[in-house]
Amino acid sequence: MADKLNANPEPLLFESVLITGGGGYVGSALTPQLLADGYKVKVVDTFWYGKDVFDDIADHPHLRLVEMDIRDGDRMFDELEGADAVIHLACISNDPSYDLDPALGKSINYDAFGTLIRNAAKQKVKRFIYASSSSVYGVKDDPHVKEDAEPQPMTDYSKYKLACEHDLLQMSDAGNMVKVIIRPATVCGYAPRLRLDLAVNILTIHALVNKKIRIFGGKQLRPNINILDMVRAYQVLLTAESEKINGEAFNCGFQNMAVEDIAKLIRDIIEDENIELEYVPTDDNRSYHINSDKIKDVLGFVPDHNIEDAVNSIADAYDNGLIGDPMTDPRYANIKLMKQLCVK
Ligand SMILES: NC(=O)c1ccc[n+]([C@@H]2O[C@H](COP(=O)([O-])OP(=O)(O)OC[C@H]3O[C@@H](n4cnc5c(N)ncnc54)[C@H](O)[C@@H]3O)[C@@H](O)[C@H]2O)c1
Repeated sequence: MADKLNANPEPLLFESVLITGGGGYVGSALTPQLLADGYKVKVVDTFWYGKDVFDDIADHPHLRLVEMDIRDGDRMFDELEGADAVIHLACISNDPSYDLDPALGKSINYDAFGTLIRNAAKQKVKRFIYASSSSVYGVKDDPHVKEDAEPQPMTDYSKYKLACEHDLLQMSDAGNMVKVIIRPATVCGYAPRLRLDLAVNILTIHALVNKKIRIFGGKQLRPNINILDMVRAYQVLLTAESEKINGEAFNCGFQNMAVEDIAKLIRDIIEDENIELEYVPTDDNRSYHINSDKIKDVLGFVPDHNIEDAVNSIADAYDNGLIGDPMTDPRYANIKLMKQLCVK
C-alpha cells in the first residue's frame, strides 16, 4: 500500500516519526503515507481495533508496530528514544466512548499526557504534534470560529483535549521541542481502520446498506475534513518551518455543512432515488462552525478533497467488499468495541 502512495514532495526534516494511536482510523491512513514519504515510522498502540489494518505493510523495513498502552510511562520513555517527531493520536476518541468510563477516559486522554510530553522532551524529540479537536470551542453563534475564539468545551472529552493543549504550551521543561496543536473537524472517508461512527461515514453506510438515512434535526452545521486531507495536514506539520508552528494551534476543517444537506448530497452521489430521508426531531440542535484560514495563510494548506470524495470512497469500498458486516462488526464503532473490550 505504501508503494502506491505518492511521496510528499517537500524535503523531510526528520528521519523517524512515532505515532501514538497509529492503529486507529486516522493512523491507519497516515502510517502508510509517512512510510511512502520516506520516514521510519513507529506505531505505539494498544491495537484495540486489531493489527490487521497493517497486513499489507507489516513487512515494511521502516515500520515498527509496538503493542502497548501509553499509560505505561517507563516503557513509553524507552520507546521514545530516537524519535525525531511524535504525532499523538492515541485516546478515547469520542464523547460516548469517553462517557462509558470517565475514569478510564481521563487516565488515557489526560493523566498520561503530562508524562508523555515530559518524556518526549527528555528524549530530545524535536517536534510534538498534538491531535486536539475543534470540539474544544463548544457551540458558538459566530460562523467563523477562529483559533483565538474562547474555547468553551461542553463535554469531558473536549475539556481534557483543551487541558492537554494548555499543558503542552505551558510546559517549562520542553527544551527545544517544537510544540504544535491541530484542531481537526470531523474526519470522513475510507481508511483501513474504518470508523462508521462519524457523521458523513455513518450517513453514507446507512444509505448504502439500509437505503434510509435518519436525520436527527438536520439544520445543524457540522465541519468536516476528508481523511486524505487530514493525512496531508500531518505531513505539512512535519515539514513546516519550526518558527511558523511552534506554540500554535491550527483549525483544520473545510466544509461546514448542514446535516440535512450532507444526507441529500449522499443520496445524490449514490444515485439511488429510493434512499429515504427520515427526519427525527432532536433536542440536540448544536451547530458547530470553524474557520481554517490560519492553516492556509501560515502554511499554505488548502484541502484537495471534499465530502463527495469521502462518500465515494466509502461507496467504492463497500461495493468492493472491503467493509464486511458494517452494521454488526463492533470494530467500526468505538463505543461498541469499548463495551466489548471492558478496558481498564
Ligand atoms: N476522527 C475524527 O473525526 C477526529 C476529529 C477530531 C480529532 N480527532 C483526534 O484524532 C485522533 C485520532 O482519531 P481517530 O479517529 O483515529 O481515533 P481512533 O479511536 O480510531 O484511534 C485511536 C487509537 O488509539 C489507540 N489507543 C487508545 N488508547 C490507547 C492507549 N492507552 N495506549 C495506546 N493506544 C491507545 C486505539 O487502539 C486506537 O487505535 C484522536 O486523538 C482524536 O481525538 C479525531
